[in-house]
Formats: sequence, structure tokens, C-alpha cells
Amino acid sequence: MKSASESDAFLTDRGKTAYESAVEEGIDPRCVPIHLNGPVPVGDEIVTPDYSEEDQNNWKFLFNRQMDLLPGRAGDAFMNGVEELGITSEGIPSLAKMSERMEAVTNWRIARIPGLLHEKDFFNLISNRVFPSTDYLRGADELDYTPAPDCFHDMFGHMPMLSEPAFADYYQLFGQAAMNAEGHQRVQLERLHWFTVEFGLVRQENGLRIFGAGILSSKGEVTHAVNGEAKVIPFSADRVVEQEYEVWNLQPRLFALESFDQLVSEFRNWTTNQGLL
Ligand SMILES: [Fe+2]
Repeated sequence: MKSASESDAFLTDRGKTAYESAVEEGIDPRCVPIHLNGPVPVGDEIVTPDYSEEDQNNWKFLFNRQMDLLPGRAGDAFMNGVEELGITSEGIPSLAKMSERMEAVTNWRIARIPGLLHEKDFFNLISNRVFPSTDYLRGADELDYTPAPDCFHDMFGHMPMLSEPAFADYYQLFGQAAMNAEGHQRVQLERLHWFTVEFGLVRQENGLRIFGAGILSSKGEVTHAVNGEAKVIPFSADRVVEQEYEVWNLQPRLFALESFDQLVSEFRNWTTNQGLL
């Protein structure tokens, strides 16, 4: 149960919590974006939950299953980030500790949030180099797939890349541009987010590698992404912003960066031309 003050911070426009509205409307309440109307705990303000033994076992299962698949498939930046942030099978990480480590490496911090955020709240945080993360884990019935945010996706999928300096800069720039975007530009930025942060590939000297969190935290997407089934197109921001995507199926096409510096410079060019940065 949330405390009254905590619930008050997450009321929707209609004065009900997102959960209450979703239950009335028959939508999975975890997939309803939440508006923040109060501060969220950041860094050492975050209290680590007392996770159940079942949660710890599920974390261990998810971590080990992905790490068995990732050598030779995930990019060096991701693998280094897992190590740098101290993410292991031995216990669900503490957001406060991860925030401290991330701050030391790329000056990003972590905020604990209660679920899917409304986009302006999300962009506002990342434009300030604060990554919003959940701290609860999917249940045993959703180990293969969950439509909702959870801390395996947030901590394991997203955080390691935020210890890569160029990617870390890109993500902040993304937040800043998104705060200024209107109309079709929002759709275009959403596509850029999808094909980089969630489903991005990068070409290393030793081959094509994954860095997108949506792939790295999903068993099915990892094997599909680099086994030749997906069409891989050289990344170009101008091309990606025109590319529609499918949320519910495996990705038929993906984009490969040459480097994270390329991502920063193409993003700067595109957003400057659009008047967003
Ligand atoms: Fe994500």
C-alpha cells in the first residue's frame, strides 16, 4: 500500500490515481502514464525495498538468462556498464547505490518512480540527467514478457548504457529536445528513441552488437536481433525519423550506429535543423 502522501503525488488530471482510472476503464493500470505533481526521491533519498525471496529468485533467473545470451551479442559499452554499476545475479540492486556509481562515471543520477510516467515528466527528468526507474520486479508469470515497466528492464536494460559517456550525453540532449517538440516532431523523436535507446544496434570492430534496452532485457528480442532475421540498416537520423515501428511484434528492421559519437552528432544536427536545441 502506498502512503497517502505518496499517492497524492501521482494523481491524474481528473483527481483519481492512474490506477483508479485504469481499473474503471478496464486497462492494465500499469500501462497508464502517471503525471507527477510532486518531487520523487533521487539518489540517496531512495529507500531500498525489502524484496521477497521470490523476487530475488526471479531477478537471479532473469539476470542469468540474459547474461548467458549476451556475450558476443551485446555491445562492449553495455557489458562494461553492467560491471561498472555492479549489477549481478546476487540480489536486486539498490537504486541509491547505482545512482552513486552512475554519478561518479557520467554525472547521471537515478530517481525512483512508481510506474510509467507521462512523457513530459519523463523528458523533464532525463533533460536534467536523472533517469527515472521503477524498483519493483515483474512476477513469476511474466518472466518472458511484461507490457509494464519493471526494474529488470529499467536497471538491467537501461542503466548500463548510461555509463557510456557519449550515449549519456545523447540521452540528456534527447530529453532537452523532447521538451521543446510539438506535433509531428514528437512522433519523429519517438521513432529515434525506439530505434536507439530501446532497439539500437552498433557496429564494433568485431561485428554487430546490441545496445537497446528493449532487446537486451528480452530473451526473444536478443536472439532475433543479430541472427540475420532482422534487416539491419545503417543509422541515419533523417532516415530513422521517417521509420514507423511495430510495438507488439519482433522488429523486422533495425538500425546500426557506427559509434555513439555518430549518434550525438547526427542528433545534434537533426534537432538543430528542427529548431529543437
Ligand atoms: Fe525502456
